[in-house]
Amino acid sequence: MIVKTNEELEALKEIGKICATIRDEMIKMTKPGVTTKELDDFAGELFEKYGAVSGPKEEYDFPGFTCISVNDEVAHGIPGKRIIQEGDLVNIDVSGSKNGYFADTGLSFVVGEGEPVLYQICEVAKKAFDAGLTKMKPGSRLNRIGKVVYQTARSNGFTVIKNLTGHGVGHALHEEPDHILNYYDPMDPILLKEGMVLAFEPFISTGAEEIYQESDGWTFKTEERSYVAQIEHTVIVTKEGPVIITE
Ligand code: CO
Ligand code: CO
Repeated sequence: MIVKTNEELEALKEIGKICATIRDEMIKMTKPGVTTKELDDFAGELFEKYGAVSGPKEEYDFPGFTCISVNDEVAHGIPGKRIIQEGDLVNIDVSGSKNGYFADTGLSFVVGEGEPVLYQICEVAKKAFDAGLTKMKPGSRLNRIGKVVYQTARSNGFTVIKNLTGHGVGHALHEEPDHILNYYDPMDPILLKEGMVLAFEPFISTGAEEIYQESDGWTFKTEERSYVAQIEHTVIVTKEGPVIITE
C-alpha cells in the first residue's frame, strides 16, 4: 500500500509494534528443550492479548500462528513437536493484522553455541538488509535493492535464494510490488514511491539458490540442505529515509 494519511501511518505502526514484540518474545523463549509448538502457542496468546490476528493463519490457512523454520528448513516451517537444540539455526517469522492493516517481520538466529558459519550468514543477512535500506528512496528503482543484496552476499562468500522474495504489504500480507528480488533484474521497471510499504526480507544462503516445497505443502528447503538466514522488516519508503515499523 501507499501510506497517505496519518491515521494509516499510526495503524501500521501499531501492528508493526505488535509483530515486533511477538517476534522478540518468541526469540527470548527459544531455548534448548522448548518445542516449536510451545513457541507458537505463546505467539497465539500474544496475538489475542494485543487484539491482532496471525497473517498466515487468517490469509493462507497456515497450520500455526507463526512460521518457525529450523536448520535446513528455510521458511514456512510448521510449528510442532520438534524440540529446539543447542546450536540450532532458527528463523521466526511473524506477520499479522489489526483493523485491516498488516505487518511482517522475521529473524534468523543461532540458539546458544553453534557452527561459526551460522553466525556468519546471520551477520551477512543483516549487512544485506542494511545495504538494501540505503536504496529505498522515492523515485529510485526497486531493482537496486536486489542488486546490493546480491553483491553483499557474494562479496562475503555466500549467495542468495532466488525464488524467495520480499513484497509489498499493508492492506494485505502480500500485495504490490509483488517481488523484491534478492538479485539484480535489469528488466524490472518498478519505481519506489513516497509512502510505499515494503516487507523487505533478504535470504542469504551457504550454497543453494533455490528452495522447493516439502510434501507437507508448506515447508521450504533446498536440495543441497544449505543453511539460509533471513531478516525481514516492514519498511515505509519516505523522502526523509526508510521508516522501519517492526524494529
Ligand atoms: Co515474513
Ligand atoms: Co514476508
